[in-house]
Amino acid sequence: MLDGTASATAQGVAAQRLTFRRIPADHGRPDDDQRLLADVAAGVELPDHPLARYLQARTLFFDQVVVDAIAAGTTQLVAVGAGYDGRSLRYARSGVRWFELDHPATQADKRARLDRLGVPLDGLTFAPADFTTDDVESCLAATGHDPARPTLFTSEGVSGYVPLDALRELLAALHRTAAPGSSFAIEVPLEPEGEAELERRARIEGQVAAIGEPLVSAVPRGELRPFLASAGWTVRSAVDPLGVDVDESPRSTAFVIATA
Ligand SMILES: C[S@@+](CC[C@H](N)C(=O)[O-])C[C@H]1O[C@@H](n2cnc3c(N)ncnc32)[C@H](O)[C@@H]1O
Repeated sequence: MLDGTASATAQGVAAQRLTFRRIPADHGRPDDDQRLLADVAAGVELPDHPLARYLQARTLFFDQVVVDAIAAGTTQLVAVGAGYDGRSLRYARSGVRWFELDHPATQADKRARLDRLGVPLDGLTFAPADFTTDDVESCLAATGHDPARPTLFTSEGVSGYVPLDALRELLAALHRTAAPGSSFAIEVPLEPEGEAELERRARIEGQVAAIGEPLVSAVPRGELRPFLASAGWTVRSAVDPLGVDVDESPRSTAFVIATA
């Protein structure tokens, strides 16, 4: 679907993120992350973005998960479909290893930008993979991910772009690399219900399809836990962008924390 072109949706998110509030930490290089985001933003024309509030909430959710995990002693993180996410720079810490899995076209563009900007990549390893065709277990193994060490996996804004069967296989492959004690923070689109959510989803679908990256999957609302369980992951919490339990919310986005 991305062919040979870097993801335009990832660039749009990065351009938005440039101005977002972030969770602070007493380690890392937030300036390097901001330089990357500014570089991407310089080439992006941002529409008047109705998604900004949602993207801000999403960014804070994933920031918090990462900061908490590192504070709790996690030393291995895998960003699945990393795009131009610069948390590996922003929250870099000695002794912590980051792996970024992403489509080769997006990743090549990100690496070229980081090289040009002269941003140091200590502790960061790139693992190119197309989630619809490649075996991510081998990709991670080939780049030095340690399956015996607990990992925090994160996947933000990616699930909807991967067909459901391929998504299940991706999650199962990640589970096979996950030592006991690993966890997964993943955004999962749910099938919309009700007029407002159907309209909202149609609007977003129209926007991303127009830039050549159509949304292709959503999990039926009652199937969230069984879907993740079928790939080995146990859901510990699932909230909407406002922090409301998805079982109590009409919104069709779940921010999930699952364990291996
Ligand atoms: C909307 S962007 C989100 C990027 C990043 N997680 C963020 O929040 O900034 C979607 C990401 O999914 C990746 N992606 C989409 N389809 C993919 C596929 N089949 N294989 C690998 N990566 C894919 C794109 O390259 C892009 O980085």
